[in-house]
Amino acid sequence: MAFPIEKFQDIRTPFYYYDTALLDNTLNAIKAELRPDYHMHYAVKACTNPTVLKHIADAGFGCDCVSGGEIQACLDAGFKAEDIVFAGVGKSDWEIELGLDAGIGFFNVESIPELEVINEMAGQKGKTARVSFRINPNVGAHTHANITTGLAENKFGIAMEDMEKVIRLAQDMPNVEFVGLHFHIGSQLLVMDDFVQLCQRINELQAQLDKAGISIPNINVGGGLGIDYQDPDGNPIPNFKAYFDTYANGIQLREGQHLHFELGRAVVGQCGSLITKVLYIKQGSVKKFAIVDAGFTDLIRPALYDAYHCIQNISSPDAPNDTYDVVGPICESSDVFIKDYTMPQTRRGELLAIRSAGAYGEIMASQYNCRQLPKGYCDL
Ligand code: LLP
Repeated sequence: MAFPIEKFQDIRTPFYYYDTALLDNTLNAIKAELRPDYHMHYAVKACTNPTVLKHIADAGFGCDCVSGGEIQACLDAGFKAEDIVFAGVGKSDWEIELGLDAGIGFFNVESIPELEVINEMAGQKGKTARVSFRINPNVGAHTHANITTGLAENKFGIAMEDMEKVIRLAQDMPNVEFVGLHFHIGSQLLVMDDFVQLCQRINELQAQLDKAGISIPNINVGGGLGIDYQDPDGNPIPNFKAYFDTYANGIQLREGQHLHFELGRAVVGQCGSLITKVLYIKQGSVKKFAIVDAGFTDLIRPALYDAYHCIQNISSPDAPNDTYDVVGPICESSDVFIKDYTMPQTRRGELLAIRSAGAYGEIMASQYNCRQLPKGYCDL
């Protein structure tokens, strides 16, 4: 990726930089694969930078929110209320109220008590809430344990054996309308096998519901498609064709049924980088450290998930190589971006780009150590 480095000189580091041309190319690549009965709801949790959101809204996508704050951010960015879906195991009353007042598309409901509350609150407002049930498919995504969500042991969704019961319950309630089923198995999946398993599970569940005379207008298969963290320039745009083909071949859709997707990382992951300045090069007794001004407060993925993000020396790309542990300034030994990393030699004052940080980067930043939140810039 080419960075407008001369424009970076006056910006306080660390900051996020989003390449909106790549974002738009990614959005177009998705659009090219969407069939008429497919709908994309961008998983807003990956990145809520307002400009990024606006590009996604302008592309005509809907959005998948998990909090009242996200619903508000999406309304502000120009998403239509009916294109918003609202998921999450613990929706607060004010968040349900916001969803009802705005007239969002669907509530993805994760328990019977939540269904009862939504029915009651919709009734008080004289409204009907469209509800879809998140079913836990007990399909394991082979990825990091912290980002696996579709196993029976996870807190998400309603158990498959309760599916028919909750649908009947909703059908008997006056203020909710049952509109579909929702699934999500995990994140950063690069092989299609787990999605194939999900398709098989959905086919089984549909067959069961057919027998019970229950039809499902919408099936939402969640997100989860991964990105190439090893080679962001080689693979800036994920293989959307393989992903959508997996579902096209795997799910037996019924006449008039719609298929919904909630990709997050695959949409925004590669377009964002964390730009950080080298503060000091320190020669330790066994290692050489590049101490930078970004820390895990700015990008927590390496510390939290052992995640790999490649780092590019954008000030001296042609310098001879050297090997470093690239570490941040935070007072915790887990504040390490990468160990034993070989890259063009760097020195104090140079800029590094920590790549593939568009998803779950800026939005997961914190203020630990009284640090400032990083800002996000697009189109400098
Ligand atoms: N739908 C639901 C219900 C989800 O829980 C998620 C992500 C998505 C869609 C979007 O998944 P994606 O397409 O981005 O994989 N912070 C972690 C990732 C957590 C994902 C949580 N759920 C990370 O940095 O890897």
